[in-house]
Amino acid sequence: MMAIKHFLQFKDFSRDEFDYVFERTAWIKNQFKSYQKYWPLSDRTLVMIFEKASTRTRLSFEAGMQQLGGSAIYLNTRDSQLGRGEPVEDAAQVISRMSDIVMIRTFEQEIIERFAANSRVPVINGLTNEYHPCQILADIYTYIEHRGDIQGKTVAWVGDANNMCNTWLQAAEVLDFKVHVSTPPGYEIQPELVGKIDPARFKIFADPMDACRGADLVTTDVWTSMGFEAENEERIKAFADWCVDGDMMRVADPQAVFMHCLPAHRGEEVTAEVIDGPQSVVWDEAENRLHVQKALMEYLLLGRIQG
Ligand code: CP
Ligand code: NVA
Repeated sequence: MMAIKHFLQFKDFSRDEFDYVFERTAWIKNQFKSYQKYWPLSDRTLVMIFEKASTRTRLSFEAGMQQLGGSAIYLNTRDSQLGRGEPVEDAAQVISRMSDIVMIRTFEQEIIERFAANSRVPVINGLTNEYHPCQILADIYTYIEHRGDIQGKTVAWVGDANNMCNTWLQAAEVLDFKVHVSTPPGYEIQPELVGKIDPARFKIFADPMDACRGADLVTTDVWTSMGFEAENEERIKAFADWCVDGDMMRVADPQAVFMHCLPAHRGEEVTAEVIDGPQSVVWDEAENRLHVQKALMEYLLLGRIQG
């Protein structure tokens, strides 16, 4: 049996595969915007498993699959046997015999790796504690749309070294750009989660202003990610100086864009001036989840479309 292609971490794909997916994204987005029917996945079924809350991920995968002619089924921990202790390996065997592709949002990356190892169909990471590869796919596509190729550019990451930060670092290695990271003490990068990365591709800064200086893209995320709510009080104190504000955007490159995966907390990780300001591309970024994931599902199910 041929090995099944999954998208569990950003580094699962090569640069060449991302170039292809971005090319397909542009085409699929254009078809959608011009109301052209495109149903390459008719009769295909996506199962979406959510162990954490979601607005964008659920909506973009469900709408995306329907727009490609297929159907999507939503399962959550509360209403399925997953929440009652059914082994993830058993769930993978059953779910993957009844569907064509699976998307999972869960806690530890290990859960999705175990699911994929027992799945007969491709598995997509819709967010784990460690990674959020679909979001970075959308973010990079959005950067390309607004400013062109990301190769050689500098991304400033301000805040928690969380699933988004780890994925930006993996993406820098695959797509050859730099990441400037500034995290509060105690919330630093865990190198084992990032994996192999050329030291020239990232730099750590104590002061977030220094991380933003000259950056082409400034980005941040919530101070408390899902699953870490018990730490909320102490995080609010620790992260107070890691709020992306107008001063940080002013030291970035004049052409810099601001991104946030959303949901955002104005007055915490970003000011309203920045997220609602002229450099912010957050709505395009959110919309592009739909388009990149359609191209991703097409690629995982049909491979490269000829011609
Ligand atoms: N950015 C993102 O993944 O949003 P949701 O949590 O709403 O899916
Ligand atoms: N880092 C955030 C992203 C939410 C889309 C979280 O994991 O909660």
